[in-house]
Amino acid sequence: MCYIFAKGVKTLNSENSSKEEGKCMKKLLLLGTFFVLLISAVVNFALDVGVVLPTNAEPRWVQDETRFRDALKNTKYSVEILFSQGLPAKERENVEALIAKGIKVLIICPHDAVAAAAAAEAAKKAGVYVISYDRLIMGTDAVDYYVTFDSVEVGRAMGRYLVQNVKAGTKNNPLYLYAGALSDNNSFLFFQGAWEILQPKIADGTFRIINSSEAEKVKNKKDLTRDEMAKIIGQVTTNWDFNVAKRKAEDDLTRAKAADKGTVYILAPNDGTARAIADAFRADKDVKAYYITGQDAEKASVQYIIDGKQSMTVFKDVRLLVKDAINAAQLLIEGKKPTTTATYDNGKKKVPAIQSQIQTVTKDNVKKILIDSGYYSEKDFKW
Ligand code: BGC
Repeated sequence: MCYIFAKGVKTLNSENSSKEEGKCMKKLLLLGTFFVLLISAVVNFALDVGVVLPTNAEPRWVQDETRFRDALKNTKYSVEILFSQGLPAKERENVEALIAKGIKVLIICPHDAVAAAAAAEAAKKAGVYVISYDRLIMGTDAVDYYVTFDSVEVGRAMGRYLVQNVKAGTKNNPLYLYAGALSDNNSFLFFQGAWEILQPKIADGTFRIINSSEAEKVKNKKDLTRDEMAKIIGQVTTNWDFNVAKRKAEDDLTRAKAADKGTVYILAPNDGTARAIADAFRADKDVKAYYITGQDAEKASVQYIIDGKQSMTVFKDVRLLVKDAINAAQLLIEGKKPTTTATYDNGKKKVPAIQSQIQTVTKDNVKKILIDSGYYSEKDFKW
């Protein structure tokens, strides 16, 4: 810098001094820009871990972001969190941007399980470890680890809740089925778990399926193939969208006869869709009572549970998931191997998994599980 400046000074004379000063300033500016770029490149290369979450339009993933930020206060590693807004193209762009910043570990919750394989492969090719977070990336061996809740157990907890709330000995209780997005492998795991518990009670006539001819076709089969599940999910999917869920529930209620109403049982795949579906059922004057499931313990659903508008939620303590993901990332950066407790088949690889347990929350235990544990604060709710 001094050399350029000195060179500039040397050539100065009285006539062209202002012209030369201008040139000199330009050089200085260029040099300054160069240093800024250099510094930002150095800073960027210091990025250790990239986290890509599917969308911030759902409270569930905002919860994860908050818990990541809390947990990251105690780590020496640098982490950047990006959202994909439900778009595989944005997801890919996020992953590419993080790779360019030199991440060593990618923690990614895919929007679309199959489409995300390409992003995982790009990361792998760049020497980055790939951790699938909550949702499994399918059809690729580029996934190193899977950090997840026991999603089949989530479905079982929902099924169990509905079965436990049927009056013993009664038959033909109306059952409405709803599912998550077909593009999310978890939708299959949740449905598989719920079906395992519900199916014997459908087969023996305790429940009568109201809104799925595809489920009706296989009602005597305990273990469904992926194709059979895909047909049912395709028919009753909410696409993880509150609006789709509400419209579907309203359409089902329009088609349903009076005998399909009264006291009803509803398998709703998560809290956001449960609130939408519950709102539709509450608005129908022929529905006298309903039992509805959910998952995620979103604050709005906790309030619904307190108010008696949603029956249960499956609590997935995001703090545990975040902790497992960060621990695994740290171990990988340090050249060590995380301990795994299960494997999940993604069609190409049996992916080693670190699995967290879940808990059923109802009006009776909501305080104990969500407030006493410090997960939420009592003043966040109207009691
Ligand atoms: C997650 C749920 C979430 C749903 C919709 C699933 O993969 O496991 O917790 O509610 O996606 O975002």
